[in-house]
Amino acid sequence: MSRQVIVSGNWKMHHNHYEAIQFVQKLAALLRTSPLPAGRQATLHPTFTSLRSVQAAVESDAVPVLLGAQDCHAEDRGAYTGEVSAEMLSKLNVSYVIVGHSERRAYCGETDEVVRAKLDAVLRHSMTPILCVGETLEQRQAGDAFAKVSSELAAALGKRPSEVVGALVVAYEPIWAIGTGQSASSSDAEEMAAYVRREVARLAGGEAAVSIRVQYGGSVTPESAAELLACDNVDGLLVGGASLDADSFAAIARAGS
Ligand code: PGA
Repeated sequence: MSRQVIVSGNWKMHHNHYEAIQFVQKLAALLRTSPLPAGRQATLHPTFTSLRSVQAAVESDAVPVLLGAQDCHAEDRGAYTGEVSAEMLSKLNVSYVIVGHSERRAYCGETDEVVRAKLDAVLRHSMTPILCVGETLEQRQAGDAFAKVSSELAAALGKRPSEVVGALVVAYEPIWAIGTGQSASSSDAEEMAAYVRREVARLAGGEAAVSIRVQYGGSVTPESAAELLACDNVDGLLVGGASLDADSFAAIARAGS
């Protein structure tokens, strides 16, 4: 079965809304000249303050990208100063929400329990979570990479209906590869993506394992994208630094076609 390939640009804390609009206009022109291949989906994950502007720019130029967010709160509303709920994101036509990015786990103290609750919130509002999992360098060197990924998957996906799990996106992002310029090799990415699928089969059954989409993330570039996308079990890419430039994001989104 050929799964739909999904390439996502995680802008992190970059691009104010003026820069975001310029990006979308440039991307629109690039994708008009050279469209995305069939079966390819692209998502953009700007900061909360740029979501509305990006949505308007995407709609007015009919850019073939879907709107994504980088995070959300687990509750729908309440006394949580500074937070943004999944419900609010869904009202802005957000389709995908990154959940449990390693930067949020590390800098904002997000535990597996918090990540699971955020995943619940995203699903409650009919959006698709991109669940991030991945090991640190120390864990990889100690031979614990698979155990780490397994425990993050079990905490977030355990005891969920098969059809729910099968519709998700999991991003395997080795922490040592994020923002370091040191991408995982395609064979390491493939090995872990295949493992993610086996774990999903264990947690939610074989059908979920076939239909779930597994992204690789960590220092993806236009040069490395095609080889990573050629891996049997890699259905997409989660791109940070290289998604900030429209030329480079467009090249990655079209890679291998
Ligand atoms: P990077 O970030 O591409 O800059 O390594 C990836 C990510 O954190 O999603």
